[in-house]
Amino acid sequence: MTLTSSSLPSEIADRLRGVELPEPLGFGRLMAPVMSLAYYRDGAWETPRLTGLDPLQLAPHTQALHYGQAIFEGMKAYRNLGDSPADGPSLLFRPYEHARRFNRSAARLGMPELDEQVFVRALEELVAVLEPLVPGQQGQSLYLRPTMFGATADLSVVPSTEFCFLVLATPSDAFFTAPISAWIERHYSRAGAGGTGCVKAAGNYAASFAAAAPLRENGFQQLLWLDAVEHTYLEEFTAMNVFVRRGETLLTPPLSDTILAGITRDSLLRLGPSFGLRMEERQIDVHELTDAIQAGEDVEVFGCGTGAVVAPVELIGDETGLRLPLPAQSTALELRKRLLDIQHGITPAPEGWQWPV
Ligand code: PLP
Ligand code: COI
Repeated sequence: MTLTSSSLPSEIADRLRGVELPEPLGFGRLMAPVMSLAYYRDGAWETPRLTGLDPLQLAPHTQALHYGQAIFEGMKAYRNLGDSPADGPSLLFRPYEHARRFNRSAARLGMPELDEQVFVRALEELVAVLEPLVPGQQGQSLYLRPTMFGATADLSVVPSTEFCFLVLATPSDAFFTAPISAWIERHYSRAGAGGTGCVKAAGNYAASFAAAAPLRENGFQQLLWLDAVEHTYLEEFTAMNVFVRRGETLLTPPLSDTILAGITRDSLLRLGPSFGLRMEERQIDVHELTDAIQAGEDVEVFGCGTGAVVAPVELIGDETGLRLPLPAQSTALELRKRLLDIQHGITPAPEGWQWPV
């Protein structure tokens, strides 16, 4: 069912009246005034419903605030710029993959799963009413933030029994619109074996903030994390998976319990061969990378993720004063274009990747 403005509850219609896209759009500058909300109580989820983006009333001893029982997803609805916009003016990208990962995150943090269809339905409903806030330019999108947190007010160190599910939305540019600089993190670790690195636990991001301070002081944009045991092998960026191209081979670290299984990563692994690239999932020693760059080899590095799409890296640095500029970014830009063409419905894609709303 698509909600038209005449069938919208008047409170929702009032919230949307007069809301305009900011210029420039940026990332997260305008929060959509409507969200989807559902609570889990007495062992069951209520059906998510649309409501205004109002402050939540939380007891100071709400579980998530103390013990971090909180997860999220990052997804996008793109303007359908293809030949059949009648299918739906907006396109979600691989929504069921996000639903499944959300449930893997929930299970890892001892939270209840949400039926995949209910998850996707909540997104469809929100995107349908926010259609005027889905921006039109290629690369822009309505960024969607499904979230779940433990809502029980209880300081005992046990899982919540009540949970809150929200979907927030913000019309946005891609997270990065120009090539980025990456800071190799030599000291802290993002994730350890058996931990929560392979899911989207809110605390994974909080744990990166202290490490990000020197990066900002040095004018860099993303931390590139190494493995927690030897501090030698590339893992991923704070909010993106990492790819390295050496000649005709595109490398990315294999998935493990310390790396998030990015849906963009998976998409690129499937698209790469059509660019004549050989795809290899294997460990990448940071010295292999820095030596190859220093030797002037044909090397490219880029990050990929929902927010960033594909972000070419133009400079790699670290706390020792290492500064390695990377000139070649052609593959990253080609992959970015192909992916965006798919996400906007311009190019056909495998089943389930383009989800009209
Ligand atoms: N790795 C981390 C830690 C992330 O936060 C993200 C962003 O969601 C990704 C990788 C990329 O995942 P995806 O492509 O599914 O957005
Ligand atoms: C995403 O790419 O959607 C992310 O979740 C990254 C981020 C903005 C934290």
